[in-house]
Amino acid sequence: MKSYLALPILLISVGFLTSCGGAALNEGENYGNILNTSQGLTLTQAEHQIGWGQSECTICHNLENIHLVDRTGITDIKAVHNQALSEGISGCAACHGTNGAP
Ligand code: HEC
Ligand code: HEC
Repeated sequence: MKSYLALPILLISVGFLTSCGGAALNEGENYGNILNTSQGLTLTQAEHQIGWGQSECTICHNLENIHLVDRTGITDIKAVHNQALSEGISGCAACHGTNGAP
């Protein structure tokens, strides 16, 4: 019985995803306005427990999936997005601090 439903549900989902001419609906990772945290953009252990001390940011953060929405109101988020893509993980510390990594 379940397999009867699977295909229609899949087709409906695909329909939703591709509607609006495939406009980008993805807002990426969202932790709200990160300037409201104690050190602002700079990472602290308290707000970054899972990632703390690691330098390989892209193990967990997909660069295509961050810096998509301006939630801080301080910056040109498109420029930040492109800068992060072009500089890669060697550029993160300039804005987010060392993340406790040596
Ligand atoms: C092992 C996985 C992991 C790694 C590696 C990692 N992060 Fe994260 N990061 C997370 C998780 C999970 C969150 C969501 C907040 C949380 O639960 O700690 C996060 C949140 C963030 C945030 C938002 C913090 C806030 O104030 O809410 C920033 C900025 C960030 N990471 C930057 C980095 C940078 C820069 C690096 C590399 C130096 C990095 N991350 C490496 C897992 C990781
Ligand atoms: C030019 C400064 C700059 C650089 C370089 C930069 N970031 Fe960010 N990052 C920001 C700002 C500003 C925000 C907050 C965006 C907002 O909400 O307006 C942010 C937000 C984030 C977030 C929270 C999720 C989100 O999309 O808002 C993560 C995760 C993150 N950065 C990871 C990284 C990683 C990993 C790198 C290195 C590849 C990096 N950043 C490089 C400025 C930078």
